[in-house]
Amino acid sequence: MTNTVKPVNVGVVGAGTVGGGTIRILATNADRISERAVPVKVRRIADRRVEVAQALCDELGLDTIVSDDWNDLITDPEIDIVVELVGGKGLARTIVATALKSGKCVVTANKDLIAAYGDELFAIAAEHGTELCFEASVAGGIPIIQVLRESLVGNNFVKIAGILNGTTNYILTKMSEDGLDFATALKMAQELGYAEADPTNDVEGFDAARKVAIMASLAYGCFVSDDKVVVEGISKITAEDIAAAKELGCAIKLLGVARLAEGKLTAQVYPALLDAAHPLAAVRDSYNAVFVHGDAVEKLMLQGRGAGSLPTGSAVVGDIVSAARNIRLGCVGRVACRFDKQLSVLTADAEQGCYFVRLQGADAAVREALVAAGIAVAELRAAANGELLLLTGDMPKTELASALTALIEKQAICGCGTLIRIEKDEN
Ligand code: HSE
Repeated sequence: MTNTVKPVNVGVVGAGTVGGGTIRILATNADRISERAVPVKVRRIADRRVEVAQALCDELGLDTIVSDDWNDLITDPEIDIVVELVGGKGLARTIVATALKSGKCVVTANKDLIAAYGDELFAIAAEHGTELCFEASVAGGIPIIQVLRESLVGNNFVKIAGILNGTTNYILTKMSEDGLDFATALKMAQELGYAEADPTNDVEGFDAARKVAIMASLAYGCFVSDDKVVVEGISKITAEDIAAAKELGCAIKLLGVARLAEGKLTAQVYPALLDAAHPLAAVRDSYNAVFVHGDAVEKLMLQGRGAGSLPTGSAVVGDIVSAARNIRLGCVGRVACRFDKQLSVLTADAEQGCYFVRLQGADAAVREALVAAGIAVAELRAAANGELLLLTGDMPKTELASALTALIEKQAICGCGTLIRIEKDEN
């Protein structure tokens, strides 16, 4: 059935990987979108590479106006929605703020921008009675923002834990399943286009930190910028750590975790030891997943592609269509993101948990030495290769690290592997 509603006009800034996927979905699924919601038309594209954007329009049979100046979208009164897909925090911040101030809805996939300046930009959107949508900023094609904001609005969140970076999940999967070392697995991730050109943000956890900052802010109503997230990446995880984890019936995954306990908000990224039976342990390859524990819904998990042209484009299109529907219903700007809760955010020094670590050269007296050093020994197990595998009870990480260093200095143990947090779910 043809939808007779006037099309909502969209302007896309940036026709790269995600922009290209978004435009392709809007063009090829136009009838379906129109039937199910409202007609959406890509009226303008702004991209410095005009010829690339024009070639895409020609291929898709679009009569879109292409230019190299994003201001053309702002000054066009016919444009209802500006889609920012240039990335970064400089120009993107100007484009988004300017578009919102001109009363246009904005859709973005930009995690760096939302994690750093979300509070400022949502305030501008509220002030101008418009909307800022950002589904694609976390976990690509997984619709976790909508789920946290709307589907699970009746819940207090006990915890949100996600595999939020495809590159590191791919590396850990290859190390675990194919016995590859870290450097080889990273090189493969780069060749497959998962990792950024400079993979530091991926492997050191900063990319996941931006995503967990956004989810923590939404879930707990207190803006957590990404520089408040306590971050540890996977570059110190060795093949030996992974083999020992397997011996314990566990997997090692890089998690982004947000939780609220006793009025303290925790937003962290760390490599975690997960029981093989945990649903996150089964998330392989470059897939992302988000595990949510709400006080009403209990535990659920969403899994899918966390990056890529069409999966991320799918999330961007979801936002565009939702904003377009609100425009036609005349109810734009009703549901603003609010961050008015004052919560203290846990710092790295206060980090506490149960940990797993491999100990080398330990002898029969090691348990006494560990206990005497103030380490909460929950389990000490001999590994097949002669090492000892220590699982601790709850204790501050800094205390554990300095106790182990002191034991190495006293030659009570010869050395130890990486401290890896044991992930336990609340009941
Ligand atoms: N490099 C990122 C990843 C892309 O590996 O998940 C999506 O943020």
